[in-house]
Amino acid sequence: MQKEYKRYLITSALPYANGPLHIGHLAGVYVPADIYARYMRLREREVCFVGGSDEHGVPITIKARQLGVSPQDIVDKYHTQIKESFRRLGISFDVYSRTTSRIHHKTASEFFRKLYDEGKFIEKETEQYYDPEAKAFLADRYIVGTCPRCGHSEAYGDQCEKCGSTLSPDELINPHSSISGTIPEKRKTKHWYLPLDQYEPWLKEWILKNHKEWKPNVYGQCKSWLDNGLQPRAVSRDLDWGVPVPVEGAEGKVLYVWFDAPIGYISNTIELYPDSWETWWKSEDTKLVHFIGKDNIVFHCIVFPSMLKAHGGYILPENVPANEFLNLEGEKISTSRNWAVWLHEYLDEFPDQQDVLRYTLCATTPETKDNDFTWKEFQARNNNELVAILGNFVNRAVVLTHKYFNGAVPAIAALTPFDSEITDTIPRIKKALEDHLEHYRFRDSLKEAMNLARLGNKYLADTEPWKVAKTDMERVGTILNISLQICASLTIAMEPFLPFTTNKLRNILNIAEQLPWSAFGQGDLLQAGHALNQPVLLFRKIEDAEVETQVAKLKKPVKKDIAPALPSCTIDDFSKMDVRVATVLQAERVPKTDKLLKLTIDTGLDQRVIVSGIAEYYSPEDMTGRQICILANLLPRKIRGIESQGMILMAKEPDGTMRLVSPLEGIGNGAVIG
Ligand code: 2FM
Ligand code: ZN
Repeated sequence: MQKEYKRYLITSALPYANGPLHIGHLAGVYVPADIYARYMRLREREVCFVGGSDEHGVPITIKARQLGVSPQDIVDKYHTQIKESFRRLGISFDVYSRTTSRIHHKTASEFFRKLYDEGKFIEKETEQYYDPEAKAFLADRYIVGTCPRCGHSEAYGDQCEKCGSTLSPDELINPHSSISGTIPEKRKTKHWYLPLDQYEPWLKEWILKNHKEWKPNVYGQCKSWLDNGLQPRAVSRDLDWGVPVPVEGAEGKVLYVWFDAPIGYISNTIELYPDSWETWWKSEDTKLVHFIGKDNIVFHCIVFPSMLKAHGGYILPENVPANEFLNLEGEKISTSRNWAVWLHEYLDEFPDQQDVLRYTLCATTPETKDNDFTWKEFQARNNNELVAILGNFVNRAVVLTHKYFNGAVPAIAALTPFDSEITDTIPRIKKALEDHLEHYRFRDSLKEAMNLARLGNKYLADTEPWKVAKTDMERVGTILNISLQICASLTIAMEPFLPFTTNKLRNILNIAEQLPWSAFGQGDLLQAGHALNQPVLLFRKIEDAEVETQVAKLKKPVKKDIAPALPSCTIDDFSKMDVRVATVLQAERVPKTDKLLKLTIDTGLDQRVIVSGIAEYYSPEDMTGRQICILANLLPRKIRGIESQGMILMAKEPDGTMRLVSPLEGIGNGAVIG
C-alpha cells in the first residue's frame, strides 16, 4: 500500500549563481520538477515547490577575482538573471530565494550550532596549503601547477580540465598559488567534520532496505558509496565567502558550501511561510522529494539526510529522482567552451516558444542514461508532433465548429460503437499518465499525454466530419462535440508539460479557469451551446534555417563576461589618485616566480621600483624603454622581499589576460593623467 501524503514539498537543486542556466540544468532538474509540481497541484494536493540560488563556494570567489569584482557582485548579477529565466520558462516555484539572504545565514548558522553544541562534529587539525603572501589558506582550486598525467601547465589542485583527471594539490608539479603566484606552504588549520561513518548502518537500512524503489541509477550510486565505507567529511573551510562558522575562534572560516546549500531548501521555505514552515519540514504526512542531477546524489541521499538525522525533528526525502546528464549535439555540455544552449538566449531567440523547449527537453530527459539534445530533433519534435498532431487536431476541431456551428459547441445526437471505443480509451490514458507521473517517468508520461492528442487526431481523420457534413449534420455535431471534449481534457493533460499552450487552448475554448485533474476525461466539460473563441495556431513550423543558425552559433568562439559596472564615485574620489606617465628604465624577472617583473622606472618625480604581476604577458625586453601609466601614490608594499612603490595600470580582458595601458605618443615623464 502506498502511503497517502497531505503535502508535497518539492525541491530542485539550487543552481550556482556564477553563470546562466543552460538546457542541461533544465532537462536534468527543473523541467521534471516543474512537471511534477504542476501535476500535484492539478491533483489538488498542497504543494510547496522550492528553488533558489546557491551563492557560496570557491568557484564564485575565483570568478570574482578574475573579473576584479566582489563575489556579491557576481551572485547579484546571476541570481537576478537565473530567477528571471526560470520565470520566463514557466518554472512555477512557490519560492525562489538565495543563500546570501539573511534568513539563510541565520538558519544555516543555527543548524551548525545545534550540531556543534550537541557534540555531533569531530574537530580535527590538518595541514592545508597556505599562501603567505595573500595571507590566506588556499582551496584546492586556487592551487595551479602542471598535471602529472598529461603535462597541462594550468591544472587545478582538484582537477585537470585538460585530461579530466581528479587531482589533489600534492600531485601537482610545481604547484603555485593562483592568487599571488607564490609557492604555497603547508600550515595547520582546524575544521569540523560530520562523522558520516557513524551514520552508515542507519543509511544502509534507510536506503538499501527501505528505499529499494528509488531509481536504479540513484540506488546504485548510494549502494556503491555505502559499500565502500563512509568517511568523516569536513563541513567548514578556510575562506572569506560563505556563512561564518558560528564558533569562537573560527574567524576566517565558513561553512562548506555543500553544508549550507541544502539547508537553503529549509531557509527558503521559512522565507515563504515564516509561521507554518515546520508543517512542511517536520510532519510525517509531508512527502519530500528532491529533484537533482546525478552529480548531486551523494549530497542529497547521504550527506544531507545525515545532517537532518543528526539534527533531529526533520522529515527525510521520500524520493530523490536524480537524472543523468544531457549532452548537446553528441558532445558533453561545456560552459567554458560555450558548447551549450543558454536559456536566456533561447527565450530571446524563440519568443513565445517556451513550450517547444519544455516539450523537447521532457522528451529527451536523461532518465536512465545520458541523453543527447540535437537541434534537428528539436525541429522534428516541433514540426512532426506539436504542429502535426496536437496543433492540427485542436485547430481542425475548432475551425470546423466555427464553420458548421458558428462557433457554438454542438450537442451529441447518438453515439456509435466507434465513438464509445474512443471515449473509453480516455480513462486508460489518464490512468497510465498518472502512473508514470507518480513514479517520475516523465518521458513516458509525455508520450501518454500526446496519445490523447493522437487519439483525437485519429478520430477526426477516421470520421471525416468534412465529408459527413454533406449528408448528416447531427452526426457532424456528435463528432465535433466528442473532439472538443478531448480538447478540453487536453487543457488538463498537457498543463504540467506545456503550460503556455494550455493557457492558449483554454482561451480558444473559452474556458475561464484551469480545470482540475478530476475533470480530465469527463464528457461534458463543454456544454452544448457554449461559445468558442476564434482559433489561433498553438504552434508554428520551425524552418531548417532556424536550427542551422543555432548549430552554427555553437561553433562560435567563447563570449566571456565583461566585469559588471561599479557603483558611482565622485571626482573627489578620483582626484585622490596620483596617476602619471612614466618610462621603464630597466626590467627583470623576480627569481622563483612565474608572474612577477621588477621594473625600475622614471616617474618624472623620482626613480623607483614597482613589482608587477605581468610576466605572463610581457617579457623584460618588452618592457624596457616603454612608456606606461602608474598609480604613483599607492602605499608601498613588500612583494617577494622587494618594496614595490606604486602600481602599473593594466586593462584586464574578460578572459583574464592583462594588457598594458600606455600613451599613444611620447609624453614627458611625470605628466599627470586626469
Ligand atoms: O551542483 C550544483 O549546482 C549545486 N549548486 C547544487 C546545490 S543543491 C542544494 F544542495 F542546494
Ligand atoms: Zn591533465
